[in-house]
Amino acid sequence: MYKWTMFGVFCLAGLLSIYLILFTLPSKEEAEQEAAFEVPVRDIDAGAAETLLSQQNCIGCHGGNLEGGMGPALDKIGSTLTKEQIYRTIMNGGNGMPGFEGKISEDEVINISLYLAEKK
Ligand code: HEC
Repeated sequence: MYKWTMFGVFCLAGLLSIYLILFTLPSKEEAEQEAAFEVPVRDIDAGAAETLLSQQNCIGCHGGNLEGGMGPALDKIGSTLTKEQIYRTIMNGGNGMPGFEGKISEDEVINISLYLAEKK
C-alpha cells in the first residue's frame, strides 16, 4: 500500500514539473521579448511631436514648456529615462498618467518618445 502511495506522489510530482516547464517557459520568453524591445531610431519630426503634445493635452499636465505641473517635468526627461521607458510610460500610463495605447498611433508614440529622449 505504502509503495503505491509513494508511486502516486512521484507521478504527481512528475506531472507538476512538466506542467511548470510547459507553462512558465513561454512567459519567460515574453519577459525577454519585452526587455529586448527597442524603440527604432528615426528622423525626429519635432513639429509633429510638439503638435501632439498640445493636441493630446500632455502640456496640460506636464506644463506648456514641459516644465512640469500636475505631472513631472519632461524638459530634461532624456537624462533620466531611456526612449524605451518613455515609450512604455506613454503607452501604458499609470500613477495619474493616462495610457495612450490605441489613442495615438504607434508611429506617433515612437516620434514623441525620440523627441523627448533628446531633451537632456
Ligand atoms: C492627466 C494628466 C497627464 C496627461 C494628460 C499626460 N500625463 Fe504624462 N504623466 C502624468 C503623471 C501624473 C505622471 C507621473 C506618473 C508616475 O509618477 O509614474 C506622468 C509621467 C509621464 C512620463 C514619465 C516621467 C517621469 O519622470 O517618470 C512621461 C514621459 C510622460 N508622462 C509623457 C506624457 C506625454 C507624452 C503625454 C501626452 C501624450 C502625457 N504624458 C500626458 C500626467 C499626465
